[in-house]
Amino acid sequence: TERGVRRIALTAQEGSIQLPGMPGPTRTWGFSGPFLGPTLRLRRGEDVEIAVTNRLPEPTSVHWHGMHLPAAMDGGPHQSIAPGATWTPRWQVDQEAATLWYHPHPHGGTERHVHRGLAGLVLLEDDRSEEAVLPREYGADDVPLIIQDRSLDADGQLVLRDDGAEPGMLGDTIMVNGMIGAYLEVRSALLRLRILNGATARTLTLGLADGRALTMIASDGGLLDEPIELTSLRLAPGERAEVLLALDPGETVRLRGLRTDLGAVAVPATTGAHDECDILELRAAPRLEPAPEPVWQARQRRLPDPAEAVRSRGFVLEGRTINGRRMDMSRIDEVVHLGTTEIWEVTNGEAVPHSFHVHDVQMRLLDIDGAAPPPELAGPKDTFYLEPRRRYRLVLRFERYADPHMPYMHHCHMLLHEDGGMMGQFVVI
Ligand code: C2O
Ligand code: CU
Ligand code: CU
Repeated sequence: TERGVRRIALTAQEGSIQLPGMPGPTRTWGFSGPFLGPTLRLRRGEDVEIAVTNRLPEPTSVHWHGMHLPAAMDGGPHQSIAPGATWTPRWQVDQEAATLWYHPHPHGGTERHVHRGLAGLVLLEDDRSEEAVLPREYGADDVPLIIQDRSLDADGQLVLRDDGAEPGMLGDTIMVNGMIGAYLEVRSALLRLRILNGATARTLTLGLADGRALTMIASDGGLLDEPIELTSLRLAPGERAEVLLALDPGETVRLRGLRTDLGAVAVPATTGAHDECDILELRAAPRLEPAPEPVWQARQRRLPDPAEAVRSRGFVLEGRTINGRRMDMSRIDEVVHLGTTEIWEVTNGEAVPHSFHVHDVQMRLLDIDGAAPPPELAGPKDTFYLEPRRRYRLVLRFERYADPHMPYMHHCHMLLHEDGGMMGQFVVI
Protein backbone atom coordinates (compact mmCIF):
# COMPACT_ATOMS: atom_id res chain seq x y z
CA THR A 1 0.00 0.00 0.00
CA GLU A 2 1.29 3.40 -0.95
CA ARG A 3 1.42 5.79 1.96
CA GLY A 4 1.59 9.52 1.50
CA VAL A 5 4.95 11.23 1.26
CA ARG A 6 6.05 12.95 4.45
CA ARG A 7 7.14 16.43 3.39
CA ILE A 8 9.38 18.45 5.65
CA ALA A 9 11.00 21.84 5.09
CA LEU A 10 14.24 22.93 6.72
CA THR A 11 15.96 26.25 6.25
CA ALA A 12 19.58 26.80 7.21
CA GLN A 13 19.64 30.39 8.40
CA GLU A 14 21.48 33.00 10.41
CA GLY A 15 20.09 34.09 13.74
CA SER A 16 20.95 35.12 17.24
CA ILE A 17 20.17 34.02 20.78
CA GLN A 18 20.50 35.68 24.15
CA LEU A 19 22.57 33.53 26.48
CA PRO A 20 22.60 34.04 30.25
CA GLY A 21 25.35 36.33 31.48
CA MET A 22 26.26 37.63 28.04
CA PRO A 23 26.28 41.35 27.28
CA GLY A 24 24.35 40.97 24.04
CA PRO A 25 22.98 38.48 21.56
CA THR A 26 25.20 35.66 20.30
CA ARG A 27 25.20 35.32 16.52
CA THR A 28 24.32 31.77 15.55
CA TRP A 29 23.16 29.54 12.74
CA GLY A 30 20.25 27.17 12.90
CA PHE A 31 17.74 25.14 10.93
CA SER A 32 14.35 26.85 10.69
CA GLY A 33 15.24 28.81 13.80
CA PRO A 34 18.18 30.69 15.27
CA PHE A 35 20.07 27.76 16.81
CA LEU A 36 20.15 23.97 16.29
CA GLY A 37 17.17 22.49 14.46
CA PRO A 38 13.80 20.86 14.99
CA THR A 39 13.63 17.19 15.96
CA LEU A 40 12.36 15.22 12.99
CA ARG A 41 10.18 12.19 13.69
CA LEU A 42 10.10 9.64 10.91
CA ARG A 43 8.47 6.23 10.74
CA ARG A 44 9.85 3.11 9.18
CA GLY A 45 8.27 2.48 5.81
CA GLU A 46 7.30 6.02 5.04
CA ASP A 47 8.59 8.04 2.13
CA VAL A 48 10.15 11.26 3.23
CA GLU A 49 11.00 14.33 1.20
CA ILE A 50 12.89 17.13 2.87
CA ALA A 51 13.26 20.50 1.20
CA VAL A 52 16.45 22.04 2.54
CA THR A 53 16.86 25.71 1.73
CA ASN A 54 20.14 27.47 2.30
CA ARG A 55 19.75 31.05 3.53
CA LEU A 56 23.34 31.22 4.76
CA PRO A 57 25.89 33.43 3.04
CA GLU A 58 27.90 30.38 1.95
CA PRO A 59 27.32 26.86 0.61
CA THR A 60 26.42 24.11 3.04
CA SER A 61 24.93 20.61 2.92
CA VAL A 62 22.78 18.53 5.24
CA HIS A 63 23.73 14.96 6.02
CA TRP A 64 21.38 12.45 7.68
CA HIS A 65 23.82 10.78 10.04
CA GLY A 66 23.01 7.11 10.62
CA MET A 67 20.39 6.93 7.88
CA HIS A 68 20.26 4.12 5.35
CA LEU A 69 19.55 5.91 2.07
CA PRO A 70 20.79 6.43 -1.48
CA ALA A 71 24.17 8.15 -1.78
CA ALA A 72 22.66 11.02 -3.78
CA MET A 73 20.31 11.78 -0.86
CA ASP A 74 22.97 11.44 1.82
CA GLY A 75 23.87 15.11 2.06
CA GLY A 76 27.61 14.67 2.00
CA PRO A 77 30.06 17.11 0.40
CA HIS A 78 28.81 16.28 -3.10
CA GLN A 79 25.30 17.52 -2.29
CA SER A 80 26.37 21.10 -1.75
CA ILE A 81 23.54 23.64 -1.53
CA ALA A 82 24.39 27.10 -2.87
CA PRO A 83 23.18 30.18 -0.99
CA GLY A 84 19.55 30.75 -1.91
CA ALA A 85 19.11 27.25 -3.35
CA THR A 86 16.90 24.39 -2.18
CA TRP A 87 17.92 20.73 -2.22
CA THR A 88 15.16 18.17 -1.96
CA PRO A 89 16.30 14.63 -1.15
CA ARG A 90 13.70 11.87 -1.02
CA TRP A 91 13.95 8.33 0.30
CA GLN A 92 12.05 5.60 2.08
CA VAL A 93 12.78 5.08 5.76
CA ASP A 94 14.00 1.50 5.95
CA GLN A 95 15.65 0.76 9.27
CA GLU A 96 14.97 0.04 12.91
CA ALA A 97 13.82 2.54 15.51
CA ALA A 98 16.80 4.69 16.50
CA THR A 99 18.05 8.13 17.40
CA LEU A 100 19.86 9.66 14.44
CA TRP A 101 20.87 13.22 13.71
CA TYR A 102 21.45 15.67 10.92
CA HIS A 103 24.21 18.20 10.39
CA PRO A 104 26.07 19.98 7.57
CA HIS A 105 28.88 18.23 5.74
CA PRO A 106 30.43 20.87 3.44
CA HIS A 107 33.90 19.91 2.26
CA GLY A 108 36.38 21.35 4.75
CA GLY A 109 33.74 23.32 6.67
CA THR A 110 31.83 20.85 8.80
CA GLU A 111 33.40 21.86 12.11
CA ARG A 112 32.56 25.53 11.60
CA HIS A 113 28.99 24.90 10.49
CA VAL A 114 28.19 22.51 13.33
CA HIS A 115 29.84 24.77 15.88
CA ARG A 116 27.76 27.71 14.66
CA GLY A 117 24.65 25.73 15.58
CA LEU A 118 23.61 23.57 12.66
CA ALA A 119 22.51 20.21 14.09
CA GLY A 120 19.27 18.45 14.92
CA LEU A 121 17.95 15.04 15.91
CA VAL A 122 15.98 12.48 13.95
CA LEU A 123 13.82 10.05 15.92
CA LEU A 124 13.04 6.97 13.89
CA GLU A 125 10.00 5.00 14.91
CA ASP A 126 9.32 1.47 13.83
CA ASP A 127 6.12 -0.39 14.57
CA ARG A 128 7.93 -3.60 13.92
CA SER A 129 10.71 -3.03 16.41
CA GLU A 130 10.00 -4.15 19.88
CA GLU A 131 9.84 -0.76 21.48
CA ALA A 132 6.98 -2.38 23.42
CA VAL A 133 6.85 -0.35 26.58
CA LEU A 134 9.40 2.41 26.57
CA PRO A 135 8.78 6.02 27.49
CA ARG A 136 7.90 7.80 24.25
CA GLU A 137 6.17 11.03 25.08
CA TYR A 138 8.48 13.51 23.44
CA GLY A 139 9.74 16.21 25.79
CA ALA A 140 7.94 14.69 28.79
CA ASP A 141 9.43 11.25 29.49
CA ASP A 142 11.30 10.87 26.18
CA VAL A 143 13.84 13.65 26.19
CA PRO A 144 16.48 14.48 23.60
CA LEU A 145 19.84 15.80 24.80
CA ILE A 146 22.20 17.34 22.28
CA ILE A 147 25.37 17.86 24.28
CA GLN A 148 27.99 20.24 22.88
CA ASP A 149 30.86 22.30 24.20
CA ARG A 150 31.53 25.78 22.94
CA SER A 151 33.67 28.80 23.69
CA LEU A 152 32.33 32.33 23.85
CA ASP A 153 34.31 35.54 23.87
CA ALA A 154 33.65 38.50 26.20
CA ASP A 155 31.03 39.81 23.76
CA GLY A 156 29.22 36.51 23.84
CA GLN A 157 30.23 35.49 20.32
CA LEU A 158 31.11 31.89 19.47
CA VAL A 159 34.82 31.37 18.97
CA LEU A 160 36.32 28.49 17.08
CA ARG A 161 40.07 28.67 17.34
CA ASP A 162 42.54 26.25 15.90
CA ASP A 163 45.45 26.46 18.25
CA GLY A 164 46.92 23.23 17.02
CA ALA A 165 45.48 21.22 19.90
CA GLU A 166 44.42 17.64 19.30
CA PRO A 167 41.77 16.54 18.60
CA GLY A 168 40.39 20.04 18.04
CA MET A 169 39.02 22.91 20.02
CA LEU A 170 37.51 22.10 23.38
CA GLY A 171 34.98 24.61 24.60
CA ASP A 172 34.68 25.64 28.23
CA THR A 173 30.90 26.05 28.08
CA ILE A 174 28.64 23.02 28.01
CA MET A 175 25.41 23.45 26.11
CA VAL A 176 22.50 21.05 26.20
CA ASN A 177 19.93 21.58 23.47
CA GLY A 178 21.55 24.97 22.96
CA MET A 179 21.18 26.06 26.57
CA ILE A 180 23.75 26.83 29.25
CA GLY A 181 23.05 25.51 32.75
CA ALA A 182 20.30 23.22 31.51
CA TYR A 183 17.81 21.62 33.87
CA LEU A 184 14.67 19.59 33.41
CA GLU A 185 11.53 19.46 35.52
CA VAL A 186 10.60 15.80 35.57
CA ARG A 187 7.06 14.57 36.13
CA SER A 188 7.42 10.92 35.31
CA ALA A 189 9.06 8.22 37.45
CA LEU A 190 10.96 6.87 34.45
CA LEU A 191 12.85 8.97 31.92
CA ARG A 192 14.25 8.01 28.58
CA LEU A 193 17.15 10.22 27.56
CA ARG A 194 18.28 10.19 23.95
CA ILE A 195 21.79 11.49 24.12
CA LEU A 196 23.87 12.80 21.23
CA ASN A 197 27.44 13.87 21.65
CA GLY A 198 27.16 16.74 19.20
CA ALA A 199 30.53 18.22 20.09
CA THR A 200 33.08 18.96 17.42
CA ALA A 201 36.00 17.30 19.23
CA ARG A 202 35.28 16.48 22.84
CA THR A 203 34.70 12.90 23.89
CA LEU A 204 32.40 12.78 26.91
CA THR A 205 32.02 10.30 29.70
CA LEU A 206 28.56 10.61 31.17
CA GLY A 207 27.53 9.56 34.65
CA LEU A 208 25.30 10.57 37.52
CA ALA A 209 26.78 12.69 40.29
CA ASP A 210 25.63 10.26 42.97
CA GLY A 211 27.28 7.33 41.23
CA ARG A 212 24.12 5.39 40.55
CA ALA A 213 23.77 3.48 37.31
CA LEU A 214 22.10 4.45 34.08
CA THR A 215 20.29 1.78 32.10
CA MET A 216 21.52 1.91 28.53
CA ILE A 217 18.94 0.61 26.07
CA ALA A 218 20.12 1.75 22.65
CA SER A 219 23.24 2.69 20.75
CA ASP A 220 23.61 4.67 17.51
CA GLY A 221 21.49 2.45 15.30
CA GLY A 222 18.80 1.15 17.64
CA LEU A 223 17.90 -0.90 20.68
CA LEU A 224 20.36 -3.25 22.33
CA ASP A 225 19.40 -6.88 22.73
CA GLU A 226 19.14 -6.29 26.43
CA PRO A 227 19.52 -3.32 28.72
CA ILE A 228 22.86 -2.77 30.44
CA GLU A 229 23.59 -1.02 33.69
CA LEU A 230 26.45 1.46 33.47
CA THR A 231 27.81 3.96 35.94
CA SER A 232 29.66 5.71 33.14
CA LEU A 233 29.21 5.88 29.41
CA ARG A 234 31.79 7.18 26.96
CA LEU A 235 30.51 8.89 23.83
CA ALA A 236 32.73 10.32 21.14
CA PRO A 237 31.51 13.08 18.82
CA GLY A 238 28.70 11.75 16.65
CA GLU A 239 27.82 8.79 18.88
CA ARG A 240 24.38 8.40 20.46
CA ALA A 241 22.97 6.39 23.33
CA GLU A 242 19.55 6.01 24.86
CA VAL A 243 19.36 5.50 28.60
CA LEU A 244 16.58 4.99 31.11
CA LEU A 245 16.68 6.61 34.49
CA ALA A 246 14.23 6.05 37.36
CA LEU A 247 13.65 8.99 39.68
CA ASP A 248 12.21 9.29 43.14
CA PRO A 249 9.67 12.01 43.92
CA GLY A 250 11.26 15.31 44.88
CA GLU A 251 14.85 14.32 44.24
CA THR A 252 17.41 16.17 42.18
CA VAL A 253 19.82 14.16 40.08
CA ARG A 254 22.74 15.59 38.18
CA LEU A 255 24.05 14.22 34.91
CA ARG A 256 27.75 14.98 34.77
CA GLY A 257 30.65 14.82 32.39
CA LEU A 258 33.25 12.70 34.16
CA ARG A 259 36.93 12.17 33.56
CA THR A 260 37.37 10.30 30.31
CA ASP A 261 39.61 7.36 29.63
CA LEU A 262 40.62 7.99 26.04
CA GLY A 263 43.05 5.10 25.91
CA ALA A 264 46.77 5.65 25.48
CA VAL A 265 46.56 9.25 24.37
CA ALA A 266 49.82 11.20 24.41
CA VAL A 267 48.41 14.70 24.81
CA PRO A 268 46.15 14.52 27.86
CA ALA A 269 46.10 18.23 28.67
CA THR A 270 44.48 19.21 25.41
CA THR A 271 42.09 16.33 25.01
CA GLY A 272 39.85 17.41 27.86
CA ALA A 273 40.14 13.95 29.35
CA HIS A 274 40.53 15.39 32.84
CA ASP A 275 37.72 17.89 32.61
CA GLU A 276 34.59 17.37 34.64
CA CYS A 277 31.42 19.31 34.06
CA ASP A 278 27.76 19.59 34.89
CA ILE A 279 25.55 18.63 32.01
CA LEU A 280 21.96 18.53 33.16
CA GLU A 281 20.06 18.81 36.41
CA LEU A 282 16.97 16.64 36.66
CA ARG A 283 14.45 17.95 39.19
CA ALA A 284 11.77 15.44 40.01
CA ALA A 285 8.35 16.77 41.00
CA PRO A 286 7.00 15.90 44.48
CA ARG A 287 4.57 13.53 42.79
CA LEU A 288 5.59 11.50 39.76
CA GLU A 289 3.53 9.67 37.19
CA PRO A 290 4.10 5.98 37.74
CA ALA A 291 5.84 4.26 34.84
CA PRO A 292 5.29 0.72 33.62
CA GLU A 293 8.24 -1.68 33.72
CA PRO A 294 10.09 -1.04 30.47
CA VAL A 295 10.15 -4.16 28.33
CA TRP A 296 10.95 -5.24 24.86
CA GLN A 297 11.13 -8.63 23.26
CA ALA A 298 14.10 -10.22 21.64
CA ARG A 299 14.71 -8.49 18.37
CA GLN A 300 14.88 -9.82 14.87
CA ARG A 301 18.13 -7.97 14.72
CA ARG A 302 19.76 -7.82 11.35
CA LEU A 303 23.29 -7.04 12.46
CA PRO A 304 25.68 -8.03 9.69
CA ASP A 305 26.97 -11.58 9.97
CA PRO A 306 30.77 -11.98 9.80
CA ALA A 307 30.33 -15.51 8.40
CA GLU A 308 28.97 -13.90 5.23
CA ALA A 309 31.92 -11.58 4.71
CA VAL A 310 33.34 -11.77 1.21
CA ARG A 311 36.43 -9.71 1.89
CA SER A 312 38.17 -7.47 4.35
CA ARG A 313 39.80 -4.07 4.02
CA GLY A 314 42.21 -2.23 6.25
CA PHE A 315 41.97 1.41 7.32
CA VAL A 316 44.66 3.16 9.31
CA LEU A 317 43.83 6.58 10.74
CA GLU A 318 46.90 8.69 11.26
CA GLY A 319 48.05 12.28 10.73
CA ARG A 320 44.73 13.49 9.29
CA THR A 321 44.84 10.76 6.69
CA ILE A 322 43.24 7.39 6.13
CA ASN A 323 45.76 4.92 4.73
CA GLY A 324 48.12 7.80 4.11
CA ARG A 325 45.70 9.69 1.89
CA ARG A 326 43.78 12.86 2.48
CA MET A 327 40.23 13.29 1.28
CA ASP A 328 40.01 14.03 -2.42
CA MET A 329 36.54 14.77 -3.76
CA SER A 330 37.49 13.36 -7.15
CA ARG A 331 39.02 10.08 -5.93
CA ILE A 332 37.02 6.98 -5.06
CA ASP A 333 38.88 5.11 -2.35
CA GLU A 334 36.83 1.93 -2.10
CA VAL A 335 34.41 0.08 -4.33
CA VAL A 336 32.07 -2.34 -2.62
CA HIS A 337 29.40 -4.58 -4.05
CA LEU A 338 25.72 -4.33 -3.35
CA GLY A 339 24.35 -7.21 -1.32
CA THR A 340 27.70 -8.18 0.17
CA THR A 341 29.12 -8.22 3.67
CA GLU A 342 32.65 -7.06 4.44
CA ILE A 343 34.97 -6.79 7.39
CA TRP A 344 36.71 -3.47 7.84
CA GLU A 345 39.77 -3.52 10.06
CA VAL A 346 40.15 -0.02 11.39
CA THR A 347 43.24 1.02 13.32
CA ASN A 348 43.99 4.21 15.16
CA GLY A 349 47.65 4.37 14.20
CA GLU A 350 48.75 7.06 16.63
CA ALA A 351 48.35 8.40 20.16
CA VAL A 352 45.63 10.89 19.22
CA PRO A 353 41.88 10.38 19.72
CA HIS A 354 40.05 9.42 16.56
CA SER A 355 36.69 7.96 15.73
CA PHE A 356 35.36 6.15 12.70
CA HIS A 357 32.02 6.83 11.08
CA VAL A 358 30.61 5.20 7.98
CA HIS A 359 27.66 6.57 6.06
CA ASP A 360 24.64 4.49 5.01
CA VAL A 361 25.24 1.48 7.28
CA GLN A 362 24.86 0.29 10.84
CA MET A 363 27.85 -1.83 11.75
CA ARG A 364 28.66 -4.65 14.13
CA LEU A 365 31.89 -4.50 16.13
CA LEU A 366 33.48 -7.93 16.04
CA ASP A 367 36.46 -7.34 18.27
CA ILE A 368 39.00 -4.84 19.53
CA ASP A 369 42.51 -6.26 19.14
CA GLY A 370 40.90 -9.68 19.13
CA ALA A 371 38.88 -9.18 22.33
CA ALA A 372 35.08 -9.27 22.37
CA PRO A 373 33.55 -5.78 22.52
CA PRO A 374 31.99 -4.49 25.73
CA PRO A 375 28.17 -4.77 25.62
CA GLU A 376 27.63 -1.04 25.06
CA LEU A 377 29.55 -1.33 21.78
CA ALA A 378 27.95 -4.59 20.66
CA GLY A 379 24.72 -3.16 19.23
CA PRO A 380 24.12 -1.47 15.88
CA LYS A 381 26.48 1.48 15.47
CA ASP A 382 27.63 3.91 12.82
CA THR A 383 30.36 5.67 14.81
CA PHE A 384 33.08 4.21 17.03
CA TYR A 385 35.64 5.86 19.24
CA LEU A 386 39.06 4.45 18.34
CA GLU A 387 41.47 4.09 21.20
CA PRO A 388 45.05 4.81 20.16
CA ARG A 389 46.91 1.97 18.49
CA ARG A 390 44.03 -0.44 18.69
CA ARG A 391 42.44 -2.30 15.84
CA TYR A 392 38.67 -2.52 15.56
CA ARG A 393 37.16 -5.16 13.31
CA LEU A 394 33.78 -4.05 12.00
CA VAL A 395 31.24 -5.98 9.97
CA LEU A 396 29.32 -4.02 7.34
CA ARG A 397 26.60 -5.04 4.95
CA PHE A 398 25.73 -2.97 1.89
CA GLU A 399 22.10 -3.27 0.93
CA ARG A 400 19.41 -1.78 -1.25
CA TYR A 401 21.20 1.23 -2.72
CA ALA A 402 23.90 1.23 -5.38
CA ASP A 403 25.21 4.15 -7.39
CA PRO A 404 28.49 3.91 -9.27
CA HIS A 405 28.67 7.67 -9.66
CA MET A 406 27.95 8.92 -6.18
CA PRO A 407 30.09 8.01 -3.17
CA TYR A 408 29.32 7.71 0.51
CA MET A 409 31.86 8.94 3.08
CA HIS A 410 33.81 7.22 5.81
CA HIS A 411 35.74 9.46 8.16
CA CYS A 412 36.88 10.51 11.59
CA HIS A 413 34.00 12.32 13.30
CA MET A 414 36.31 14.66 15.18
CA LEU A 415 35.42 17.47 12.87
CA LEU A 416 38.79 19.18 12.71
CA HIS A 417 40.24 15.89 11.50
CA GLU A 418 37.43 15.30 9.05
CA ASP A 419 37.82 18.78 7.59
CA GLY A 420 41.58 18.33 7.52
CA GLY A 421 41.29 15.33 5.24
CA MET A 422 40.75 12.27 7.43
CA MET A 423 37.95 11.10 5.17
CA GLY A 424 37.55 8.76 2.24
CA GLN A 425 34.88 7.92 -0.30
CA PHE A 426 33.33 4.59 -1.19
CA VAL A 427 30.84 3.65 -3.85
CA VAL A 428 28.43 0.76 -3.77
CA ILE A 429 27.99 -0.83 -7.20
CU1 C2O B 1 27.90 12.78 11.09
CU2 C2O B 1 29.85 12.09 7.63
O1 C2O B 1 28.90 12.52 9.35
CU1 CU C 1 27.10 10.20 8.69
CU1 CU D 1 40.40 11.94 14.15
